[in-house]
Amino acid sequence: MNLYKHVSNEINKKLGFSANLEVPKNRDFGDFSTNAAMVGAKTLHKNPRELANEFMPKLQELDFVKEVSIAGPGFINIKIKDDFILQNASAPTPMKAEKPLVIDMDYGAYNVAKSLHIGHLRTSIVGDTLNRIFKFVGHKTFSWNHIGDWGKPMGLVLAWIERLHPELPYFKDDFNPDTPVDYTIDSKELDTYYPSASALAKKDPEFQARAQEFKAKFQAGHPGYFALYEKFLAISLDSMNATVQRLNILPFDYDLGERNAAQYVNEVEKILDSKNMIYESDGARVINVRRDDDNAPIPPYMWKDSRGADTYDTTDLAAVYCRKKTDKPDIIIYFTDLRQSLHFERLFRVSDMSGIYPYNKFEYIGYGTINGKDGKPFKTRDGNAAGLNDIFDIANEAVRARVAESGKQLDNETITSIALAAVKFNDLIHDVKSDYIFEPNSVTSFEGKTGPYILYTAVRLNSVLKRANTDIIKQHDYELTGEERNLLIEIMDFEHTILSAYENRATDMVAYYAYDLCQLINNFYHNCPILRDDIDAKTKAGRLYIAKLAFDTLATAIDLMGLKIPKEM
Ligand code: ARG
Repeated sequence: MNLYKHVSNEINKKLGFSANLEVPKNRDFGDFSTNAAMVGAKTLHKNPRELANEFMPKLQELDFVKEVSIAGPGFINIKIKDDFILQNASAPTPMKAEKPLVIDMDYGAYNVAKSLHIGHLRTSIVGDTLNRIFKFVGHKTFSWNHIGDWGKPMGLVLAWIERLHPELPYFKDDFNPDTPVDYTIDSKELDTYYPSASALAKKDPEFQARAQEFKAKFQAGHPGYFALYEKFLAISLDSMNATVQRLNILPFDYDLGERNAAQYVNEVEKILDSKNMIYESDGARVINVRRDDDNAPIPPYMWKDSRGADTYDTTDLAAVYCRKKTDKPDIIIYFTDLRQSLHFERLFRVSDMSGIYPYNKFEYIGYGTINGKDGKPFKTRDGNAAGLNDIFDIANEAVRARVAESGKQLDNETITSIALAAVKFNDLIHDVKSDYIFEPNSVTSFEGKTGPYILYTAVRLNSVLKRANTDIIKQHDYELTGEERNLLIEIMDFEHTILSAYENRATDMVAYYAYDLCQLINNFYHNCPILRDDIDAKTKAGRLYIAKLAFDTLATAIDLMGLKIPKEM
């Protein structure tokens, strides 16, 4: 049961006001607190404390109310009856939304021929957890891995390969796609092509022009360039799949990005032309997106570059058009590094102006950077910018060292799940927009607000349940201790928390919830022995029942965060 919703609705029904129900930080004086008397006092022109006194007996009639008391200027604290808690606490199950929405989510968005950087970590982790939350609260989602497989990097990599191997037949304009070519690319080596090419293009205008020409001809369907592109595309797709597995994120509904969107460019251009939106500027074809009330300059939308090729802007608008056709989404959400926020503001404006998709149905979630202790983007020991895989390797190493020090014997799979939890939980518990410092040692600690602490709590509780080795039955007349009561109340807050996380697009709410729940589970574990010989059968059954609800609730939270509970820890 969603206790919050139940209590809030029943109070409002009883008193006839729509008041706010609060969850006090310290629940010693009440499980909930309502401002009903303050709201009522305004409409009825009464003194709030007096009105609170009038409300008390009415509230006392509600079947779940144990005690009511007045606090401060007229807040009413409410304590819930123990037997009501025991009767109604339940393990969470996926919810039904009152109005189920179709939500398109654009995250991950990995690039072809560019190794995954640390920025891809947050979009993947936060995007995946919000996807799981949206589904859990009853919405339909479509996740789009909008792959970067069409733009400038393709031109750069093709031009780079031409420099290395000018003799390859791919570069001939009359290349026949059926020609077998004995040429393979090593995936490690491929990772170096884009950075090298992009560095060269910066200082060599001729190479830069060559890369642009490659991009334009590739987009126009040059058979040789395309065949070569397919070689490195395959390597990149493999590494993307490996990442999805390594991160334990849900498979994407669509691994379709820029290239897929490019098919819709002509249709979209007709719409733009019919509204006379495109004009020429320095040889490029652009769209003005300025508004009178802008107080910062906002560059025009680059519909086609000066060679007539598609840009990041082109394919993003075409992708909106495609998604609207395929999914008919009620909302489209993007997750990228905050530095792209202006790009998306411009996209939303163009899309709205052209009538393709309305401005107010877009959402943009921009995240901050992951820094080292020096406050600069996190680097590996050799001083290079850390890539996504480096972060996991570093976390793995830190977990391994910690485990070795404790004298525990854990297998590789367990170590990997712990490291994954360390990185992901730390990401989820930070507000998306803010930068944070990644400190491998502290995020892998088994204590405090960390992934390993969450997993450890789950493993330990699960081992009690396994050791009990008995059917667990719902208990009706069992007298709760303070720890048991607090734990059950927290369990009954689960749905309310997830709904708030959904409404606020806030993964940190789930992470904090999991942490608070673990604190209460550990209090319960230490103060309420379950399997000890001196514990009578009734108490044992009651505690096992509570332990099971707690485990199921924690496991659901863990699943929403995309973590895996190891067998032992
Ligand atoms: N591939 C881009 C990057 O790695 C992110 C793409 C985000 N999604 C989009 N529709 N533009 O930075």
